[in-house]
Amino acid sequence: MLAAAKKVQVNLLLRLRFLALSVVLCFLCGPSTLAQLSTEDHVADPGFWPTQSSGPQKLYTGGAVCASCHAGIAATQLATPMANAALFTRASGILNSHPTLKFTFAQYHYQLQTDAQQTLYTLNDGEKTLQYPLLWAFGIGRVGQSYLFKKEDGTFYEARVTYFTPLKTLDFTPGRALTTAKDEEEAMYRKVGAGEVVKCFACHTTGSAFEGQFNEATLAPGVHCEACHGPGAKHVAVQQTAKLTGVADTGPATIFNSAQLKPADSVDFCGACHATFWDVKLAGGSGPTTARSQPYRLEQSKCWGQGDARLTCIACHDPHKQLETDGAAYDGACLKCHVNGASAKKTADHPGPACPVSTQNCASCHMAKVYVPEMHADFTDHRIRIVRAGQAYPE
Ligand code: HEC
Ligand code: HEC
Ligand code: HEC
Ligand code: HEC
Ligand code: HEC
Ligand code: HEC
Ligand code: HEC
Repeated sequence: MLAAAKKVQVNLLLRLRFLALSVVLCFLCGPSTLAQLSTEDHVADPGFWPTQSSGPQKLYTGGAVCASCHAGIAATQLATPMANAALFTRASGILNSHPTLKFTFAQYHYQLQTDAQQTLYTLNDGEKTLQYPLLWAFGIGRVGQSYLFKKEDGTFYEARVTYFTPLKTLDFTPGRALTTAKDEEEAMYRKVGAGEVVKCFACHTTGSAFEGQFNEATLAPGVHCEACHGPGAKHVAVQQTAKLTGVADTGPATIFNSAQLKPADSVDFCGACHATFWDVKLAGGSGPTTARSQPYRLEQSKCWGQGDARLTCIACHDPHKQLETDGAAYDGACLKCHVNGASAKKTADHPGPACPVSTQNCASCHMAKVYVPEMHADFTDHRIRIVRAGQAYPE
């Protein structure tokens, strides 16, 4: 019954994209759905949104131009995993430092052999050998790296095997594990349809599609300035004039800055690639895999309430810098809302109660590490909560 009601809401939300309606609907659903949208909806709205195919290409400058004025931001951003989310295989540190990688499944023997020129992907089942040079490596490898190659006709294929950093070797690509294979082809790869190719590159590279056309030649591998700030040519022209004339620009904003968004939209913004609450709902996601979508989990925290700028992604993460891995560094973000010290009383601007257990290192206990089996790695559960021993993963 509840499930049926939810489904009706989803369909309505999809067909009628009116905020007013979603507010009405939200009498029926939880507070966490208020004003959040799917990425498809955001992309269809006017204006810039990450992953959208916009254009024309001449409105974009490329990140090197941005770096000429924003040198500090560019220096740290270029070193982030996001900026390196895709690489040509010949630039892959993982492949270069592991010249031979092997995996076996049933009668199938898989091998990735890397030399100075290329990485050859081979499958042998005792009778037949198939071999293709790999083209793209996706993921810097916090947890893993997956590979794409092309056949002569230009069609993309995804290798059935992925390198996993925690395993230090190959295993089945996440979500693509086999129990049997009907032939060598199925054992070796999966065809990536044209629509899906566009999506992979939209999240892992910059400038891969203009005016609806996927174009491998124009893209910059990785997530760079204009993937998040949209087309920059106008801003560059205005700022170059300002620099030359010495008269600062005081006109309206010339480039997109997500800092201006309302809290729910700000979280949806990162969710364009990290999956929004509705992206996960519509895909029917469940179980520990959903910990890979921080927006989905975060917005289900009691802390989130109706949405609060103190709990957006950028309240805790600077997308231009490396991920902070010292858990205590996040205490300040919690203590913008929570009073501290067991006897402290809540206030109007600190609506969060005090912790009866500790006054520091909040995330280490309340943002659990969740093991995601197909990734062979832990993800940080962004559903902030009291974690009880032996408790099942709360959906
Ligand atoms: C000629 C120098 C110059 C270049 C090139 C340049 N910027 Fe800027 N940018 C500035 C200055 C100066 C400011 C601060 C003044 C302002 O906000 O208008 C600024 C502000 C910004 C802001 C904040 C805007 C706001 O309204 O909050 C963003 C975002 C930004 N730049 C991104 C970029 C990106 C992305 C590129 C490359 C496409 C780029 N900039 C290229 C000089 C430059
Ligand atoms: C255009 C797509 C895109 C957008 C928009 C985006 N991300 Fe990412 N992000 C990625 C990809 C792809 C990765 C995986 C990079 C890798 O490990 O290869 C990633 C990884 C990360 C990581 C992990 C870094 C690490 O050390 O492993 C953090 C943190 C992160 N993103 C935060 C954010 C925040 C905050 C926002 C919103 C301001 C955001 N992202 C928006 C695509 C995006
Ligand atoms: C909707 C955006 C999106 C699409 C589409 C997408 N990815 Fe990702 N991918 C991400 C984000 C965000 C991350 C980082 C968080 C995570 O690991 O789940 C990521 C992480 C990864 C990682 C792990 C990276 C690491 O550093 O450990 C691999 C491998 C990967 N993606 C491969 C692919 C491949 C191959 C495709 C297409 C067949 C693809 N992705 C499509 C957004 C996307
Ligand atoms: C993953 C998305 C992402 C990427 C990639 C990205 N930015 Fe940003 N940028 C943001 C967000 C989000 C903000 C707002 C941050 C805030 O207010 O805390 C921002 C803010 C800014 C600002 C405003 C001043 C400031 O420091 O907050 C400038 C300037 C800027 N970015 C320039 C760049 C340049 C140059 C690049 C490329 C080298 C870049 N950004 C790449 C997401 C991104
Ligand atoms: C209250 C603070 C907080 C907020 C808000 C927050 N994060 Fe995190 N995030 C963390 C902590 C803590 C870690 C774990 C850092 C570590 O120890 O490696 C983390 C880790 C990550 C990682 C690395 C992969 C993983 O699972 O460990 C990604 C990607 C990420 N956050 C993205 C996001 C996005 C996108 C948002 C917005 C939906 C967001 N975060 C909001 C605190 C926060
Ligand atoms: C935007 C303000 C805000 C931020 C930021 C915030 N919280 Fe909360 N948090 C609250 C409020 C308000 C409640 C009480 C919600 C309720 O009872 O419905 C709460 C509840 C909690 C709870 C109790 C949850 C439960 O299941 O009963 C824990 C634990 C918690 N917060 C920990 C944290 C930690 C740890 C951080 C930082 C990583 C954090 N919060 C950041 C506002 C916030
Ligand atoms: C060592 C682990 C640990 C650390 C560190 C920790 N907590 Fe807790 N916290 C707990 C546990 C366990 C509970 C549940 C206590 C109970 O219900 O008996 C709790 C309860 C809470 C609650 C619910 C209180 C209520 O009245 O409902 C909040 C809010 C909270 N913690 C916030 C925080 C914040 C903020 C920090 C950092 C300043 C923090 N915690 C650090 C373990 C921890």
